[in-house]
Amino acid sequence: MMFREADATAVKLSEYKPYDWLIDTVDLDFQLDPKATRVQAKLVMRPNPKGRRNAPVVLDGDELTLASIKLNGKTLAATDYDVSASSLTIKNPPREKFTLEIETIVNPSANTKLMGLFRSNAIYCTQCEAEGFRRITYFPDRPDVLSVYTVRIEADRDEAPFLLANGNPVEAFGIKGSNRHYAIWHDPHPKPSYLFALVGGKLDFIEEPFTTMSGREVMLRIFVECGKTQLTGFAMDALKRSMRWDEKVFGCEYDLDVFHIVAVSDFNMGAMENKGLNIFNDKYVLASPETATDIDYENIEAIIAHEYFHNWTGDRITCRDWFQLCLKEGLTVFRDQEFSSDERSRPVERIGDVRRLKSFQFAEDAGPLAHPVRPDTYREINNFYTVTVYEKGAEVVRMLKTLLGERGFRKGMNLYFKRHDGDAATVEDFLKCFADANKRDLSQFARWYSQAGTPELAVRGSYDAKAKTCTLDIEQMIPPTPGQSAKQPMVIPLRLGLLDGKGRDIALKDAKGKAVSDNLIVLEKAAQKFVFSGVKEKPAISLNRGFSAPVKLATNFGEDNLRFLAKYDSDPYNRYDAVEQLAMNELVASASGSNKSPEALIEALSNALDNASLDDAFLAQLFSFPDESDIAQKIGGNIDPDAILAARRKIKRDVGVALSDKLAARYQKLTNHRAFSPDAKAAGRRALRNACLDLLAATEGGAEHGRAFKQFEEADNMTDRMAALAVLCQHPIPERETALAAFEQRYRNDPLVLDKWFSVQARIAEADALGRVHKLTKHPAFSMTNPNRMRALIGVFAAGNPSQFNRPDGKGYAFIADTVLGLDSKNPQVAARLLSAFKSWRMLEPSRRALAEKELKRIAETPGLSPDVTDIASRSLA
Ligand code: PHE
Ligand code: ZN
Repeated sequence: MMFREADATAVKLSEYKPYDWLIDTVDLDFQLDPKATRVQAKLVMRPNPKGRRNAPVVLDGDELTLASIKLNGKTLAATDYDVSASSLTIKNPPREKFTLEIETIVNPSANTKLMGLFRSNAIYCTQCEAEGFRRITYFPDRPDVLSVYTVRIEADRDEAPFLLANGNPVEAFGIKGSNRHYAIWHDPHPKPSYLFALVGGKLDFIEEPFTTMSGREVMLRIFVECGKTQLTGFAMDALKRSMRWDEKVFGCEYDLDVFHIVAVSDFNMGAMENKGLNIFNDKYVLASPETATDIDYENIEAIIAHEYFHNWTGDRITCRDWFQLCLKEGLTVFRDQEFSSDERSRPVERIGDVRRLKSFQFAEDAGPLAHPVRPDTYREINNFYTVTVYEKGAEVVRMLKTLLGERGFRKGMNLYFKRHDGDAATVEDFLKCFADANKRDLSQFARWYSQAGTPELAVRGSYDAKAKTCTLDIEQMIPPTPGQSAKQPMVIPLRLGLLDGKGRDIALKDAKGKAVSDNLIVLEKAAQKFVFSGVKEKPAISLNRGFSAPVKLATNFGEDNLRFLAKYDSDPYNRYDAVEQLAMNELVASASGSNKSPEALIEALSNALDNASLDDAFLAQLFSFPDESDIAQKIGGNIDPDAILAARRKIKRDVGVALSDKLAARYQKLTNHRAFSPDAKAAGRRALRNACLDLLAATEGGAEHGRAFKQFEEADNMTDRMAALAVLCQHPIPERETALAAFEQRYRNDPLVLDKWFSVQARIAEADALGRVHKLTKHPAFSMTNPNRMRALIGVFAAGNPSQFNRPDGKGYAFIADTVLGLDSKNPQVAARLLSAFKSWRMLEPSRRALAEKELKRIAETPGLSPDVTDIASRSLA
């Protein structure tokens, strides 16, 4: 890329320079062919007034065959340009407007990296973010070069009856006397190359019209592999709801005549927001009650919304450079989370989002791969599509909203859309809109973008009965992270409540008796004291309500405070969190050998089951305890994964036994025979019922295993069938193999459903799991080159089965290392992501740590690795 250093391979934010040229228009002509697709590109270029004056034209390229090159219609002499493996340089271009015509040949069938032009089940499709366009033609493949694209695609009619690209359709015709046909597309919105997309192939589609807020008609279409349109109804519904929501909440209207989604089987990520032509991993489009779980439905809705929302936050306003990735991703995740909150249950959505943040992002922040929300250096940008950029990036936007209030936040967003429409912007541009619109100084707040690591707050609460004051002494500390040893204090918005003896919220007043607006305090210094006056009795303290800041708390409030909050907190998130902390305390004690019964937790859960005001989805969250890697995070070092597994099994058994009557009664009560609906309420019912099933089965009673098997056999939807299968898989009982065989038989022709079957087995926490996973790699439905299959089986084993990945003999590590090495030459992006399963290796007890290190070193020392895997291996070891 443009500002890569000559010697080192690192790209640095501080070295950003604008590109020396502007490219006003790009005309592309594709002659699609499975092995030799010809790409003719015509670029109209002129010097960038902000660029260097006598610069050459340097274009990026990767695995391209250059067929011809012309400048202003004349073929360039070989001495006029240089071609290397990664670039094409025109040494002495004109210093005024000119046309560059470049012809390249690419082989989509050989493209296993799934970047650039590739084929998925014979469908031609593209993926260009972040640096895939250079695998199609020579081009300044960076997000700050914006151009208007016109695309002509020609192909065999039989092979590719549908030909799609970004923007609006211009014309489509057969070519006389041949089996060829073509289509022309024009996208009037200037865009960077990473948003380019093309699709060609045999497809089926559904379509529905949508009228935008200003009354324009847009045709929405979802294209899928032939025979799959009956699985697209939910995605279409989610799309229409997303479009309406963005109009209503942000005033964002769609801006082309068509909006197209294409679902393909081979895709590295979840989906891609190419302008007017979103391309999706089919896992996030296709759904029916028989094949998709409630979680699948929820993900489809969220990802359809996410990609659609990118039309404004990503496409209309894009990023200046890849350091600014969170500008589009963090903001768009925030937007999709808000959408899901409005469409479903806000508290339950928040609990789920925070759970994911704590499980994955806090873990990333605490290990060798920690990096700021906006990194300032990278070796391989593909490795920065992380939970830190996405999820922590969303939390930073959420804090901005908390600090500025609903209206102040909207003012800032409106200004951002107005001021930067059509720009390639930066995080500074974004923040400035909020600062200007609200007349606020956000310079300290900006540290959330530059300082990595999860802030830790030490909080001391005290009550003065005489003065009737409650005081919070809060210190903030941010642990060191790679490249950042010393940190500066952050702006930390904390919502809080003080509860009286009956569990009611006390009206908050500061030391001077002034009402605390929004129940919000803002920490800005390393240490700060907050005094609340007029507190008539010693209160219970509920801090960081709604998880208003992504921080860790250590308080002196004690277990009684937790028990009280679990029962009374008016903030649903903190009420959930109190129960989770009770569970976590028991889990940590039990993992280090304590054998006591989890009384406080059982009491809290029992109360919750009796409380008719709590909804099912919320209760289901209370009954799904922290998972093994969360517990490991909490313990923080010298980790023995087997002890953690045993602790988790024990707590489930203890709770199951203590509450078996109530759980069984609730299970029964939630059993209904109504027709399936994927809505949030019905999903909540299923989630709670399945949580009951899981805990009842944890008592290891034969009758309970029978209950699970019966549910497996009788289920009329995938959620219940899969939940029962997952329960059976936790117990070494004959029904497990019977059910697995039946499932395989039933879904053998549906790879997306078989992924669930792979995953559920990859999670079996028993000593023969590795053997089972190894055997499954030989299953006819498994494929090394399909990212979904890889992740379902091997990715889940590495990231979702801690006791077996971390086998004491190191064979789990060796297996993953071998897989990474075998996959790297085919698909480095997926290989690198698999390797990041080692991200918490330093926390392990010494003998496992040594074995993990040995495998990481073996990888790092292998010659000829991709930059992707080299980068993860070296940062993991640093
Ligand atoms: N930009 C995509 C999204 O979040 C993610 C993606 C990145 C897809 C890189 C493909 C490649 O929404
Ligand atoms: Zn995104």
